[in-house]
Amino acid sequence: MVTRGRVLSVASECVPLLKTGGLADVVGALPAALAAQGWEMRVLIPCYRALQWRLEGMVEVFAEDNLFGGRGRVMAGEVAGRQMLLLDAPHLYDREGGPYSGPQGDWGDNAQRFAALSWMAARIAREGMGDGWRPDVLHAHDWQAALAPAYLAYGGANGVKSVLTVHNIAFQGWAPAGMLNELRLPAQEFHPGALEYYGGLSSLKAGLITADRITTVSPTYAAELRRPEFGMGLQGVIAARADRVSGILNGVDTDIWSPEVEERPYSARTLKRKAESRQVLSGAFKLEVPGPLAILVSRLTDQKGIDLIPAVLPDFVAQGGGLAVLGSGDAALESAMRELEVRFPGRVGVRIGYDEGLSHLMFAGGDAVLVPSRFEPCGLTQMYGLRYGALPVVALTGGLADTIIDANPAAMAAGVATGITFHPTEAPALAQALRRLVALYSDQSCWTQVQRNAMKHPVGWESSAAEYAALYQSLLA
Ligand code: ADP
Ligand code: GLC
Repeated sequence: MVTRGRVLSVASECVPLLKTGGLADVVGALPAALAAQGWEMRVLIPCYRALQWRLEGMVEVFAEDNLFGGRGRVMAGEVAGRQMLLLDAPHLYDREGGPYSGPQGDWGDNAQRFAALSWMAARIAREGMGDGWRPDVLHAHDWQAALAPAYLAYGGANGVKSVLTVHNIAFQGWAPAGMLNELRLPAQEFHPGALEYYGGLSSLKAGLITADRITTVSPTYAAELRRPEFGMGLQGVIAARADRVSGILNGVDTDIWSPEVEERPYSARTLKRKAESRQVLSGAFKLEVPGPLAILVSRLTDQKGIDLIPAVLPDFVAQGGGLAVLGSGDAALESAMRELEVRFPGRVGVRIGYDEGLSHLMFAGGDAVLVPSRFEPCGLTQMYGLRYGALPVVALTGGLADTIIDANPAAMAAGVATGITFHPTEAPALAQALRRLVALYSDQSCWTQVQRNAMKHPVGWESSAAEYAALYQSLLA
């Protein structure tokens, strides 16, 4: 295929190197998806301690002696088919703990750590790397990379265009105004029309103001962002740049998330094998559930509406339902989940932690996946649910609204229903959705029909990758 152009993708995480959420899945899936559209993509992420061993065999393609307090070098190499760039700057990234926080909470120097990532991204885009590679487009993801378009805008772009994708506007990269100089931002741009944000700085706002194009991860979220309850302070900025904003739905990597690629019995290729997987899942969580066995695989946070679960579960259990939970996050929500397990032995099973392998078994064996989010820019787990015939029960918001078709009588008659949606994200509406789930489950022919619709629903990257390709192309024109 003819190469249509080159893209430098910049983010704080990328599958299979490091993942805390859906951002990593998306950043890791884009290179192959875009390659199929003729776009060559390299991905730049920080070289955290857990990635140090990967530097072996990589080559240095760029360096800066004083990168926010120490030497930083960009190392290039292939990882699982992806052209990866690791920003090796031990003073910023080589430490014990997670990418954003350590034992004492968020790293105190996160503003500098991700400014450094963005700064190097802008420099290699502008100047090109040691091996002669230079992108046509810099594609930044979320606040951690959002200063990259700003550095290009303020320091010279040398013809490189920029795209900023908002995966979650709740994280805005706030810093005090006094850090302007240290973050290498121009003082004359500190005013409400540019860098100033409620008296301080926000790297996300800086990116939103300066990027040539802004995307978010679903069309509904793009529209929601203009409203205060979703825009979270940035709704005015989004509205002011409305002509540059679009929503492009995430896909899922069907080489990883597909019943066809799972080992037996972690497979739902046929609904018979789904029954087998359900047994294995029940065994793993010590469950005996007569009705639908729902799963929840999620960060346990306020965004995800996890606090509603304790209120609706007694009713669901009384009707024969059960729940397997895998997640971690807020301590209060973790203990609320543990209490449910104690209260409903054999009906509720809970694993606190992060376990990629177990999550596959859960989608393969679950009858339904719960996603009661208050807001959801896109959401991936409902799409895994579609793929594996674990019917999504989702709040009608963001990408959830764009991917799931409610099993109402009209959609059933038309043969297009793929799950159950509810609104608003409150306990009574979720309880009602679960009652509808139980009713649907008790009608095996309708249930199987919806499962088949769900499993047929396209969730791959093809059409969304074509949209990104068209967006990049429009910038070159
Ligand atoms: P978000 O990025 O907001 O957390 P998404 O639905 O986009 O939500 O992506 C979450 C990703 O993280 C999915 O791939 C999901 O399967 C995975 N995930 C979340 N929690 C866990 C967990 N405890 N164990 C394994 N995978 C998890
Ligand atoms: C964010 C959002 C989630 C989205 C993911 C990938 O983490 O919370 O909805 O699916 O990014 O874009």
